[in-house]
Amino acid sequence: MPVNILMVCLGNICRSPLAEGLLASKLPKDTFFVDSAGTGHWHIGKKPDDRSIAVARKNGLDISNQRGKQFTTEDFDRYDYIYVMDHTNYNDVLAMAKNDAQKSKVKMILNELFPGENVDVPDPYYGSQFGFDSVYEMLDETCDIIAKKLIEKHS
Ligand code: 4NP
Repeated sequence: MPVNILMVCLGNICRSPLAEGLLASKLPKDTFFVDSAGTGHWHIGKKPDDRSIAVARKNGLDISNQRGKQFTTEDFDRYDYIYVMDHTNYNDVLAMAKNDAQKSKVKMILNELFPGENVDVPDPYYGSQFGFDSVYEMLDETCDIIAKKLIEKHS
């Protein structure tokens, strides 16, 4: 059984597709499966935002095959780790949890980089390409730490 990790944001087209692509690129595929979802329903079946595809491509990562999904309660059983991008995602996902075991799977992704600070990955959707560059950088740094910890723990 692989270790299953889910990245969650609001739309599943900007931040969580980058987080999925980045973490997957840092982990061996035979042991780890990385996926992403949005708390919202608007972009189900859609490709990531062109600006996320562009910043990933610029950094040698292809995320264009990803398709939008909505987070569901079954995801608490399907995934071992659930990383959310911001406070709103955190509250929305926790509100769907049925017990403490499910709640304990949910973590703010930047707490790996800035422990205990509960820093949000800013939503770049309404901004410029610059916002996507900075989101990419912070996700790259935090995914480095996550990958290192997961590899140590599970191999
Ligand atoms: P994401 O960004 O949560 O990083 O995918 C957003 C994308 C779309 C919307 C909001 C945030 N939207 O409202 O459609």
